[in-house]
Amino acid sequence: RPVSVAVVGATGAVGVEIRHCLEQAGLNLCRVRLLASPRSAGQVVPFAGGSLMVEALGDDSFQGIDYALFSAGSGISRDYAPRAVAAGAVVIDNSSAFRMDGDIPLVVPEVNPDVIPARPGIIANPNCVAIIATVPLAALDARHRIRRLTIATYQAASGAGAAAMEELRAATAAHLAGDAYAPRVLKHPYAFNLFSHDAAINPATGYNGEEEKVVEETRKILRRPDLHIGITCVRVPVLRAHSMAISVEFDEVVEPDAVRSILSSAPGVRLVDDRDGNHFPMPNEASGQGDVLVGRIRRDVGDPSGRSIALFLAGDQLLKGAALNAVQILQRLVG
Ligand code: A2P
Repeated sequence: RPVSVAVVGATGAVGVEIRHCLEQAGLNLCRVRLLASPRSAGQVVPFAGGSLMVEALGDDSFQGIDYALFSAGSGISRDYAPRAVAAGAVVIDNSSAFRMDGDIPLVVPEVNPDVIPARPGIIANPNCVAIIATVPLAALDARHRIRRLTIATYQAASGAGAAAMEELRAATAAHLAGDAYAPRVLKHPYAFNLFSHDAAINPATGYNGEEEKVVEETRKILRRPDLHIGITCVRVPVLRAHSMAISVEFDEVVEPDAVRSILSSAPGVRLVDDRDGNHFPMPNEASGQGDVLVGRIRRDVGDPSGRSIALFLAGDQLLKGAALNAVQILQRLVG
């Protein structure tokens, strides 16, 4: 049957991609409502060959809506997702508001579609790094149990929203023109620079909020609450795809060729592992792609036990890391 969908945060970096993913998802849509702040109300945007007007989010936004995709930050999700559910909608929430609630499913469709209940209320879309990492890691863990992960991320501006992407463009243009640029969205100069992820540091542990999210959510998605994960999250001057270096320690010695073989048939993964051409996953090639690119598969010789394999990944933060994963959840729900 045709379904009605609302997109909350439809004008944001992720919201724009949700619109594109909805256009391409092959769903039978009878109504699409685009919601944002009052600043954007009245804006007309193209959709599926026609056009739609953006409306201000309000109390009556969810009447008659079957599915509501939220991407307007945690505060908006906390306020409005319960209201959308009360109005009869199923919520797919891209914020971190509900991800670690015990009774809220945290879903990557290639990994754990079985946690979606028959009558869902809110379904959480995971953190972008957790999604991109777990797509290949779940395929490996299913064959050879993973004992420990060491992750270093190279995260794009898109994760901090449309304004941060604009800041990267403006700061780079200013730098090249020899002009001064005072950061407005992020704390540090972004052009030709990189810095520790802007999420606040937990003084007790020294880890920042992004690192803590990735650790907790990866454990929840993989259903491995005891998994040891060390991580350093860094923001790099790339517009929209995240990269990461991961060392995967298994319970047993696993050959790099076995890892390559598992990943070559893993859903949502594309191998980019050309040693002769020195061609491995890159954010510019991951941008616009639904698959996670994986390569540089080799023994991590830093682990003398021989049980560790090193990988390099790149995945589009706005697509698989956010909008596409949310729309893939919607596709599962609609069936
Ligand atoms: P708007 O463009 O009208 O400000 P991003 O993550 O790229 O910063 O996008 C945030 C999204 O959340 C935008 O669509 C933004 O709309 C929306 N948003 C921000 N504040 C509110 C609000 N108070 N009510 C509804 N939507 C909001």
